[in-house]
Amino acid sequence: MTKNNKTYISELKNHVGEEVTLQGWLYNSRSSGKIQFLIIRDGTGLCQCIAEKQSLPQELFEKLKHLGQESSLSVTGSVRKDERSIGGYELSITDAKIVSQTEGYPITPKSHGIDFLLKNRHLHLRSHRQWCIGKIRHTLIDAIRTFFNENGFTLIDTPIFTTMSAEGEQTLFEVDYFGSPVHLTQTGQLHLEAAAMSYSKVYCFGPTFRAEKSKTRRHLTEFWMVEPELAYIDLDGLLELAENFVTYIVTRVLEKNRNHLEAVEADIPALEKIKPPFYRITYSRAVEILKGPKTKEFLAKQLEDLKNQKHQTEQKIHQLESQQKNPGLKQWKKDKIDADLIELNSTLPDLTAATENNPKHAQLAAEFQWGKDLGGSDETIISQMHDKPVFVTHYPKDAKAFYMKIDPQNQDVVENFDLLAPAGFGEIIGGSVREDDYDTLVQRIKQEGLNPENYNWYLDLRKYGSVPHGGFGLGVERTIAWLTGEKHIRQCIPFPRLMDKIYI
Ligand code: 4AD
Repeated sequence: MTKNNKTYISELKNHVGEEVTLQGWLYNSRSSGKIQFLIIRDGTGLCQCIAEKQSLPQELFEKLKHLGQESSLSVTGSVRKDERSIGGYELSITDAKIVSQTEGYPITPKSHGIDFLLKNRHLHLRSHRQWCIGKIRHTLIDAIRTFFNENGFTLIDTPIFTTMSAEGEQTLFEVDYFGSPVHLTQTGQLHLEAAAMSYSKVYCFGPTFRAEKSKTRRHLTEFWMVEPELAYIDLDGLLELAENFVTYIVTRVLEKNRNHLEAVEADIPALEKIKPPFYRITYSRAVEILKGPKTKEFLAKQLEDLKNQKHQTEQKIHQLESQQKNPGLKQWKKDKIDADLIELNSTLPDLTAATENNPKHAQLAAEFQWGKDLGGSDETIISQMHDKPVFVTHYPKDAKAFYMKIDPQNQDVVENFDLLAPAGFGEIIGGSVREDDYDTLVQRIKQEGLNPENYNWYLDLRKYGSVPHGGFGLGVERTIAWLTGEKHIRQCIPFPRLMDKIYI
């Protein structure tokens, strides 16, 4: 606390009974005649501040009463512990200074459509839900760095401009580099492999780019990925590392962000179950599961549940719409109905889509042919049927990238894995042992229609001291979506870049 008693909401617990000053913004307010309840946010939390007519000058009381949402102000008052109050503490206001008055703030406490919120992302970042997600993201990134730093990995900053493709040429963003085409990196992996031959255990962490022509809830065109790479490692070693890593980051978020997880209604008991060992199945077993009777039953039951939920939502909308027509409705009740309707109307398209997609996904699963990559809906089904993350290993080589090592026991598959987060969230990690044999790698590069000459330096790594090695990449936004229960990963990065639009 400073000389003028300025403190932060997160510090109020240390100042019960004292007079302090908070500097922030008006998040929300309501008035009941002689008392006003002002919810103030200051970047560290929310606090209910109480202004009583009898203890404040008339002019100040009136000013506070008419203060618009997101006006900036400082408030002074005494701190009281109150379990029921948002944040657990309250302030009885003795003085206040308005820094800047706001009128007509576009994002009100009622719900808004997603397009509107994305266009107003610069303001929406202030909403409590987005703020909580940002706090969780901060811990996650810190935990990622700490895990690798404390386990003997050296950070390598891999370049963003690259000349090679690693994850398919269809998803490259081309950039004019002084008259020559280069690309924005899809992965730091290839450069990291070079660094692993120098430092043994390395990782890179930065933004990656995919010109993914995909509008799904799982795809961004710019996302953050952490990639460890290790010399002298096999597939089992990679799975063990990934399992310990994911357990560590989940545990850290649970320790540091429990209140934020609660605020976004994350499934905390499910996260508490995330401990090794995770499930391990091969791709071939995954195909058996997809085509099997249990999956058919599971999806039929899911369809019934979805239909019921959809029916109930439609009924509720119908009810509220007829209540809305009631002429004697009080303003607060009208606002509540409006907010509920926006919320219900925004979930209805999701429920409709899920109900329509269920039979299509069931058919895709039943008719799945060995050899194809697992699609988003296949991953969702496998992940919905498990309560802990699932490693799916040994995919068909033709469905996967050229750098993955062919399994010596079965030449049709590679020594790779995807890690599927449970409860329908799907893939959060992709990784593999790398092909370390020069001739095989040249052949695989050619088979993928790429020119081996562009990979000369990468091939050198197989000429000079080649060793078994491998690594994986974890997508930060997909991991946050899983931890928070957020449906779309666009909410998990401050300024999302989507295929159809860059909003701000
Ligand atoms: O499976 P991917 O493509 O693997 C690689 O890039 C490897 N080179 C990593 C390695 O072995 N070093 O991507 C890894 C992860 C995915 O599991 C997913 O979490 C995330 O990156 N990811 C995306 N996240 C958001 N939007 C996209 N378009 C993504 N594509 C991949």
